[in-house]
Amino acid sequence: MARAGLVGGALAATAVLGDEVAEGSAKLRALLVNGSPHREGCTYTALSLVAEELKKNNVEVEILHLGAGPVQDCIACGNCRKHPGICIWKDDPVNELIDKAKNSHGFVFGSPVYYGHPSGRLLSALDRAFYAGSFAFTGKPGAAVASSRRAGSLATIDAIQKHLTINQMPVISSFYWNEVHGNTPEQVMQDAEGIAVMRQLGRNLARAIKAYAAFPSGEEIPRSYTNFIR
Ligand SMILES: Cc1cc2nc3c(=O)[nH]c(=O)nc-3n(C[C@H](O)[C@H](O)[C@H](O)COP(=O)(O)O)c2cc1C
Repeated sequence: MARAGLVGGALAATAVLGDEVAEGSAKLRALLVNGSPHREGCTYTALSLVAEELKKNNVEVEILHLGAGPVQDCIACGNCRKHPGICIWKDDPVNELIDKAKNSHGFVFGSPVYYGHPSGRLLSALDRAFYAGSFAFTGKPGAAVASSRRAGSLATIDAIQKHLTINQMPVISSFYWNEVHGNTPEQVMQDAEGIAVMRQLGRNLARAIKAYAAFPSGEEIPRSYTNFIR
């Protein structure tokens, strides 16, 4: 239901086929989240390459930087159960992320590799954003992108993708894993294979965004919870 309200409306009633968004339909938007403390570092460089292709394919793009300040982790207070879509912590960009997600049709979550895993800030932000506001992401396509000097991208991508695959989100890939390599943007721009992977990812995501926006999900199967300790 929530998803139909977010992605439906004008889009649901409009044919969005192939590479053409039918005239008069609402604009399609992608939200790209930069989980590095560096506003315009390597992760940003990778996201910018994805963004270029999204824009070429008529998808509007916003890159949201999570900043370099503290990002609180989830304290399992349960307050968001009483106030869906709102996390109790107001001093970092997580509520902004949820709000922007409501009006977005697809996502890329990017992170530098830290000790073989995503940045703590991205993981904390995703835990809270998905726990408080999963409905803003449900059923919309998304991708994980990792930037590393040398190793740890796959574990990083896997960790990020868990948020997508527990939330009915199709995971978008490219012709190699979604990774770039370098310690500086200039080094990333020497990673010819990484650059091509990001560009193809942008094209694939644009196509998925159009396809999923054209066919919003219907009513969900009623679910039951099988935790046995009550
Ligand atoms: C705390 C820390 C841990 C890191 N761990 C790894 C690592 O495990 N593997 C790796 O290849 N690079 C590692 N790096 C390097 C970064 O992943 C790499 O420079 C990345 O491209 C930086 O992206 P950014 O400019 O968007 O922050 C680490 C960097 C930092 C600061």
